[in-house]
Amino acid sequence: MDEHVLTSAERGVLTVRINRPEKKNALTAAMYAALANALDKAAAHKDIRVTLILGVPGTFCAGNDIADFLQVSMSNAPGSNAVFDFLERIIMAAKPVVAGVDGVAIGVGTTMLMHCDHVVASEASVFRTPFVDLGIVPEAGSSLLGPRLMGHHRAFALLAMGEPLSAAEALAAGFVSHVVPVAELEERARAAAQAIAAKPPEALEISRRLIRGDRTDVLHRMREEATLFAERLKSEEARAAFMAFMNRGAGKAS
Ligand code: COA
Repeated sequence: MDEHVLTSAERGVLTVRINRPEKKNALTAAMYAALANALDKAAAHKDIRVTLILGVPGTFCAGNDIADFLQVSMSNAPGSNAVFDFLERIIMAAKPVVAGVDGVAIGVGTTMLMHCDHVVASEASVFRTPFVDLGIVPEAGSSLLGPRLMGHHRAFALLAMGEPLSAAEALAAGFVSHVVPVAELEERARAAAQAIAAKPPEALEISRRLIRGDRTDVLHRMREEATLFAERLKSEEARAAFMAFMNRGAGKAS
């Protein structure tokens, strides 16, 4: 297990905490692999009924590590597959996934929520997917699920224009279930996960399958996006955007 992804199991809930606060919980390949492993563990263990994904106070997840993006962008080698392993697991997860979000949820920090069954967000949450500004394209099946959830115009504003959404706007957009005060975030997210874990498991599994529907179209879109995404990572536009982010400290200091 990666030191930046911590897991613990209690009362039927596997808590998976993204824990790299010094980099705003930006996800590296090792962290995606650890997240994928955690979902595998949830799938394999009978006693685990729900996975609960949390960040740290003030930071859910700042998306993919941009230093990793830059490295892929500058090299001839393909990027790691760990991100797709994680995305496949969360898209096809057979057991419920709950998330508790406080603070920034950027890029995959937002798009992973579209695959969760229940999302509790604090009033201080901000959701943003600056894919186009980074020279890349939407991922995680968000180009299919986004418009389905919130309609074309709102999905375009989020996924193409990179407009930030507040917690209330994310609730209205349909990928947040409840907005709660910051101080109550973890307690409320955990309570929701435990309540789901306490339901009759067979009835829950069948009901969830009916509600989620067949997800193979989402899986296919995720793979289609991934091919385009991998091409875009090598583009001039993306390289310039990644370098601008990595060098912005120099600008701030001068
Ligand atoms: N990848 C790599 N490092 C990241 C990161 C990311 N996605 N997000 C934040 N960090 C790092 C910063 O480089 C900084 O590192 P340093 O202290 O070594 O310089 C540290 O995390 C703290 O970030 P900082 O930008 O100083 O904090 P902030 O509170 O001013 O802003 C964010 C926080 C998340 C709004 C800002 O960091 C940001 O926009 N990050 C990029 C998000 C993004 O575009 N992700 C990709 C989506 S596809």
